[in-house]
Amino acid sequence: MKTTQSLTALALICLQALAATAQAGEIEVLHWWTSGGEARAAQSLKASMQAKGHTWKDFAVAGSGGDSAITVLRSRVVSGNAPAAAQIKGPSLQAWASEGVLTSINDVAKAERWDELLPKVVSDQMKYKGDYIAVPVNVHRVNWLWLNPAVFARTGAKPPSNWEEFFAAAETLKKAGVVAVAHGGQTWQDLTLFETVALGVGGAEFFRKALVQLDPAELNGATMEKVLSTFKRIKPYTDRGAPGRDWNLATAMVIKGEAGMQFMGDWAKGEFLAAGSLPGKGFVCTPAPGTAKAFIYVIDSFAMFKLKKPANQAAQKDLASAVMSPEFQEVFNLNKGSIPVRMGMKMDKFDDCAKASALDFTAAAKSAALLPSVANGMAVSSSVEWAIKDAVSQFWNSDKMTPAEAMKKIASAAKTRP
Ligand code: GAL
Repeated sequence: MKTTQSLTALALICLQALAATAQAGEIEVLHWWTSGGEARAAQSLKASMQAKGHTWKDFAVAGSGGDSAITVLRSRVVSGNAPAAAQIKGPSLQAWASEGVLTSINDVAKAERWDELLPKVVSDQMKYKGDYIAVPVNVHRVNWLWLNPAVFARTGAKPPSNWEEFFAAAETLKKAGVVAVAHGGQTWQDLTLFETVALGVGGAEFFRKALVQLDPAELNGATMEKVLSTFKRIKPYTDRGAPGRDWNLATAMVIKGEAGMQFMGDWAKGEFLAAGSLPGKGFVCTPAPGTAKAFIYVIDSFAMFKLKKPANQAAQKDLASAVMSPEFQEVFNLNKGSIPVRMGMKMDKFDDCAKASALDFTAAAKSAALLPSVANGMAVSSSVEWAIKDAVSQFWNSDKMTPAEAMKKIASAAKTRP
């Protein structure tokens, strides 16, 4: 009896293994997660696909918040050689879907009831004409300020919660000979800083009207002028090495104590953690001045491309399912610095920055202070985003341009055809 049972069990295992091999496909995923924390997070995705018997083909294109990756993706898709999935987000998902190159993953989404597991603002964005064409990975918060507490203690600077305190701290740090603000002068980082200042100085309603709805009256108004002058006041607290610097190298300056602060989304936290720096000890997270109750979000997602081989299509569905699983949502986001996008997840393994982010995300959604990041592809079409990025960076880099002139440039960039 026992032998029969174990033989049946053995046969079952063999059958399952056979089925797995028959289904095994290749999964090629385009992303730009190449820094320390990002790479650790991407590794967890690779591991979960390999555990399902699939071959992982990494298609990582480093640099500039994904700007280079998207250029490479475009040429691959145009030549009829799309990867299974690519890190695409925000309005660009709709743009890619309307070109007819994405595939529906509705069967997975329906079977797993994604509509019930995702906030509506997220599931709407993952769908094109009612079909899921992408799977969301995480929720990043952009409006954070990262501090090195040892540098603050050594110089006597005080952690800021409003702009006055921020400039006082920056002055103290500068006088003590450290770089007050670690910055990377790339257009997406300039705009990341700018949008954070826009929220901190102008508030959530201004942010939405000016930067999301691109309302000409707000873009040309007095608040915009104040935002621009506050933004530019930060420049003297950055160092000469800033132009062109990658964001993770700016984070490294804070980690090493060469700089006191960095404005950056919480992918920076992944970088601190990967370097062995601990929350509350090696680094402190605090909402950027004036933004405590608001939340600029980035939701990373993978768009699914049409594939020819059935085995690869099956692997693609496994990828979609794995990304939404609670296990993956936990381990990936612990490494990435973000929080799970899947609702109802336990947060006990997450640190205080992530716990605060999760609470603030829900609260901001209720108070209309949940805002899509313009700098990170969540708010406007990519052509408008690029035009605004250029205008903001020109102002940041110019010694002569006045805030009034910058306002005109930004307002005309906002009129770029989507
Ligand atoms: C953002 C992306 C984040 C992070 C960052 C820096 O656009 O949403 O996940 O990777 O770029 O590379």
